[in-house]
Amino acid sequence: MTDERLREAIAGELLAARGRTQGLTDSVDDGELIAQHSRLMSPLVWDLAHIGNQEELWLLRNVGGRDPMHPEIDPLYDAFEHPRAERPSLPLLPPAEARGYAAEVRGRVLDLLEGVSLSGAPLLRAGFAFGLIAQHEQQHDETMLITHQLRKGEAVLAAPAPAPAPADRLPAEVVVPAGPFTMGTDTEPWALDNERPAHRVDLPAFAIDTVPVSNGDYQRFIADGGYREPRWWSPAGWEHRNAAGLTAPLFWTARDGVWLRRRFGRVEPVPPNEPVLHVTWYEAEAYARWAGRRLPTEAEWEKAARFDPASGRSRRFPWGDEAPGEQHANLGQRHLQPAEVGSYPAGASPLGVRQLIGDVWEWTASDFTPYPGFRAWPYREYSEVFFPEAGRPAEYKVLRGGSFAVAPVACRGTFRNWDYPIRRQIFAGFRTARDLPDGA
Ligand SMILES: [Fe+2]
Repeated sequence: MTDERLREAIAGELLAARGRTQGLTDSVDDGELIAQHSRLMSPLVWDLAHIGNQEELWLLRNVGGRDPMHPEIDPLYDAFEHPRAERPSLPLLPPAEARGYAAEVRGRVLDLLEGVSLSGAPLLRAGFAFGLIAQHEQQHDETMLITHQLRKGEAVLAAPAPAPAPADRLPAEVVVPAGPFTMGTDTEPWALDNERPAHRVDLPAFAIDTVPVSNGDYQRFIADGGYREPRWWSPAGWEHRNAAGLTAPLFWTARDGVWLRRRFGRVEPVPPNEPVLHVTWYEAEAYARWAGRRLPTEAEWEKAARFDPASGRSRRFPWGDEAPGEQHANLGQRHLQPAEVGSYPAGASPLGVRQLIGDVWEWTASDFTPYPGFRAWPYREYSEVFFPEAGRPAEYKVLRGGSFAVAPVACRGTFRNWDYPIRRQIFAGFRTARDLPDGA
């Protein structure tokens, strides 16, 4: 990409992120921006100024060498200094000031972008620091959409529904042959530290679901007593199921024998053909055991998504190396819901696995750990502090593939997300896998 094209691409990504941020924060009044809709989330007004503050820190100060604009507010917007539950009690910038601050930072960043060198220093190579900030804002746009889902009250967001899935007859599972593949990346310019370095991983043959587990599938697990049978659950999962009183995915309620769910303020019958959403890792694990299967490991997921048997190489995305288009995947909050299972044939992997990118984040069996040769960059707090400490059990499980709420810029075949196995306000579903006999 020429230098000029790169600058245009960066400006376009920053603009797209800000458009989403404005859509999510202009759709509610100031009272709702300041309110905390769930103890799991920040007030929306915190996200707004935090987006501006991180952009100021990384781009204006680190890259541009500018002085802090308002050093006194830095601690308020440091995610490590104040947990989310504490944030509403902080002396946060009110909505108009938060908007003004983010806009002023952005204006100065666009000026900086015109003259800065996009080569040389590692932080600037291929515009990495700008890519980091575009991804950061889009990640908060996903977080803010989760806040919208948790908020009570009338619907304020709307988007067209995705097209129905084509009527293809798909096999239930796809066989991924045994052998090595390249996991992670050395070449993706805006990949984050935890996706690096590229390394070879040799896997036995396995089979993986062609599509994510659907609401209809999941209702059969419920109807079969899945939540009442400890044998399907791990000990930790059963303990959590009991402590939290889990009986169905979050936002589901049964009325007269019909499952309803609330989504962005609207209540509707659970659509059987959509991927199941808002389940914990423990529920995904229990479902898989009930189905006689298991969750795929992170390496299995990535091999199913990226490995091209014809060339032996790993692609950037299941469909190839080109950036996600509307025909490939349900990304970017274009639709405020996952598409039906079996959608996006143009986004299938070389082996025929569908919807690996977009729709729902997919829980994997794996703990969040560093790849061999991991190097924290550009700061420890992005990934390293979430890896297990020596001798301590891992706390986080890996999710892959992104959801309908994730922007293309923050989603790749190598992208890794992680969360506690008890979390389900996130846009998470899953698919299952199984071992194959030797030589299959
Ligand atoms: Fe952040």
